[in-house]
Amino acid sequence: MNLKEFRKNGHEIIEWIARYYEDIEKYPVKSRVAPGETRSLLPPLPPAGGESFDSFMEDFDNIIMPGITHWQSPNFFAYFPANTSPPSVLAEMLTAALASQCMIWETSPAAAELEERMMDWLREMTGLPSYFEGVIQDSASSATLAALITAREKVTGFTSNNEGLTAAPRLRVYCSLQTHSSVEKGMGVAGLGRNNLVKVATRDDYSIDGEALKAAIDRDIAAGYTPCCVVATLGTTGTTAVDSLKEVGRICDNYGLWMHVDAALGGTALILPEMRWMIEGIEYVDSFVFNPHKWMFTNFDCSAYFVRDAATLIRTFEILPEYLKTRTRGKVNDYRDWGIPLGRRFRALKLWAVIRSYGVDKLQEMVREHIRLAHMLAGLVESENSFELMAPVLLNTVCFRYRPAGLTDDQVNSLNEKINHALNDSGKIYLTHTTLDGRYVMRMVTAQTSVTERHVLNAWKMIKEFASSLFPQDGAVDVH
Ligand SMILES: Cc1ncc(COP(=O)(O)O)c(C=O)c1O
Repeated sequence: MNLKEFRKNGHEIIEWIARYYEDIEKYPVKSRVAPGETRSLLPPLPPAGGESFDSFMEDFDNIIMPGITHWQSPNFFAYFPANTSPPSVLAEMLTAALASQCMIWETSPAAAELEERMMDWLREMTGLPSYFEGVIQDSASSATLAALITAREKVTGFTSNNEGLTAAPRLRVYCSLQTHSSVEKGMGVAGLGRNNLVKVATRDDYSIDGEALKAAIDRDIAAGYTPCCVVATLGTTGTTAVDSLKEVGRICDNYGLWMHVDAALGGTALILPEMRWMIEGIEYVDSFVFNPHKWMFTNFDCSAYFVRDAATLIRTFEILPEYLKTRTRGKVNDYRDWGIPLGRRFRALKLWAVIRSYGVDKLQEMVREHIRLAHMLAGLVESENSFELMAPVLLNTVCFRYRPAGLTDDQVNSLNEKINHALNDSGKIYLTHTTLDGRYVMRMVTAQTSVTERHVLNAWKMIKEFASSLFPQDGAVDVH
């Protein structure tokens, strides 16, 4: 593709993207293709000769688009959002065009220093302590893995990277039953062993039970284990429960344990002063991750990882082959020493574009509105006799189920599963579920970039209609 063609195709792609956003509500939110369908439409072997970009776009429209689930649809209420926004998309194009490898300061000084400044901005925006230093990682999973490895190194006197864990004490890590699976995965990858993750019971609001945590640590010490780290969560994946950093922090402080906070979703809410109660106890925290690529309108991937002591992080990950030695070492941040991969994308650029384009005030307004929508929806759920709110609403997620009178628990579970699948198969909205104490629960997340009250009200109307059509209850459910 020469530059003349590039220019023409590029303009067309921007047109395509703008049209896609205008028309996004016309697509079925959840893709309807069957397993293997997309693959069967793709040639088994690559073309020997080059093809036109027009033919690529034609296949993109005809083969790929039907197999896309539309995360940017305002009718997407599933999982947690993976938001983007026009400034983020445009900046990502520039990142792709520069295609810089931002592994060390010298390989693109502006990328390293913009990253440094963006982490300062995020720290200020979220009210995190001024001594926190940060780095952008690809995902919360990677940041949490980095935290586990750093905690492991610290507790083994920085020997396990070199010696392995064969002579090390058996280390234990603690989290709650509601903690994201990335912690368990990280335990395996960090060599700590998935079985050494102790999942502690939660209280009625699904936050970690501090007394159960302390008891688990005491039990482990008595059994000869070495406690190493606790992971607390701000915004659990199931219900957005918030662990008390103060309660967990005091325990970590007493036992000398590393404290990591997974705020993958919840961290963005900290841009609202009224949500800063979530970080009471932050003074105990050693590391903290949140994902602008979830709720801060910055497309995947962009995960903000903060640490109290960057020297400990760097000591854990630095490695210095000859070809990476520079004259600026020690004077600048070489971010390859702050995490696992060597090569790094220029992720700070899209964050800069988003924050500058909206401004903090507008970002606050949007996040505040998402939280308001969740509370509004919770009120609607509570106003119906046949529906039940299943967890407190703190952020942007509402957990509920349909519970008509006269059904057993198993029948209620399978009815809700049926409703959830029927809603998703309709293509009109997309919800995902969790289970709480053995109960099947639908979750609706009101935090997509372009979601409005109208979308939430329409979705709620549909949920009621589908519920009452799958299990009619005379007069008990008002479907209009
Ligand atoms: C609480 C929590 N932590 C971690 C993750 C993993 O995030 P990532 O995809 O950035 O690894 C998720 C994903 O939804 C999450 O909800």
